Amino acid sequence: MLLDQPITMKNNGQINVVLNGQKKKLKVLNTSSKEITPVKVQSKHSALKEIEDALSTLVGMDEMKKMVKEIYAWIYVNKKREEQGLKPGKQALHMMFKGNPGTGKTTVARLLGKLFLQMNVLSKGHLIEVERADLVGEYIGHTAQKTRELIKRAMGGILFIDEAYSLARGGEKDFGKEAIDTLVKHMEDKQHEFVLILAGYSKEMDHFLSLNPGLYSRFPLVMEFPDYTVDQLIDIANRMMSEKEYKFSKEAEWKLKDHLLSIKSSSSTQTAFSNGRYVRNIIEKSMRSQAMRILINETFDKEELMTIRSQDLIFKEYR
Ligand SMILES: Nc1ncnc2c1ncn2[C@@H]1O[C@H](COP(=O)(O)OP(=O)(O)OP(=O)(O)O)[C@@H](O)[C@H]1O
Ligand SMILES: [Mg+2]
Repeated sequence: MLLDQPITMKNNGQINVVLNGQKKKLKVLNTSSKEITPVKVQSKHSALKEIEDALSTLVGMDEMKKMVKEIYAWIYVNKKREEQGLKPGKQALHMMFKGNPGTGKTTVARLLGKLFLQMNVLSKGHLIEVERADLVGEYIGHTAQKTRELIKRAMGGILFIDEAYSLARGGEKDFGKEAIDTLVKHMEDKQHEFVLILAGYSKEMDHFLSLNPGLYSRFPLVMEFPDYTVDQLIDIANRMMSEKEYKFSKEAEWKLKDHLLSIKSSSSTQTAFSNGRYVRNIIEKSMRSQAMRILINETFDKEELMTIRSQDLIFKEYR
């Protein structure tokens, strides 16, 4: 149906519309009627809309965004299945994040906590971020105790283990093995009470999994966090800036782009390059330099207070 003019309501509850080139009168249903469904559909999925809004704050990450929407759909459909007396499905949501530094692993884990809380998958949605030293103890039994304690704190939320591959560092005799065994036991026993995320560099995580073949099948969701392209890094930089009510001058953006192009193409820095964090560090430094420049020049107008200029961008020392 094509409406080629604004809808006009007649006193008798009819509207004039043009249907396939012909003027017609349509009777309007009682506006309180449940027949008018679009609003209902929208509000039913307002949670999904909110989730999409939260995901849209992140640059790229299409795979992760798709996965979150699939989980939402799965939970929703499961409720409908239960209403029809069908078996409710239960799936563990433990995950593995593989990627270089600064590719957004911690950011995504924190966001997932909030989204899973919204979807009623988790009761609290908090994130406990730990590394080897937090899990591994100094004597027999100490590691299991430390690990259990952290799992307890993570109940209702996410336990995020950064550089998880380091747990396999010392081989069979190392206490890291005890931490892995304790984690495996609890991730099965309490699989719907918390989400375990193991994170680390791709290569090291693959090696870690090859040493612990039983682990792979226990993580149904494996996500790659690729390095950002220069354009994505510029997008991330602009988002960080506008969040803080700053902006780049045109020349400053060009200078940053040039620098990122050169640093990403130089092979010696590729392994150490820390993606989003690198950009964040540059921005924070540039804000301090800008403050100093403004203080000296005494130009306190709003435009100047917001603008990072090319001379404020200083690149050395950052990785
Ligand atoms: N896709 C993205 N969109 C917007 N900002 C991002 C994105 N990815 C990363 N960032 C920003 O980059 C910075 C680093 O991200 P984060 O700490 O999540 O990386 P990480 O993968 O956990 O790094 P590491 O492995 O070193 O711990 C954060 O300030 C984050 O806000
Ligand atoms: Mg991190």
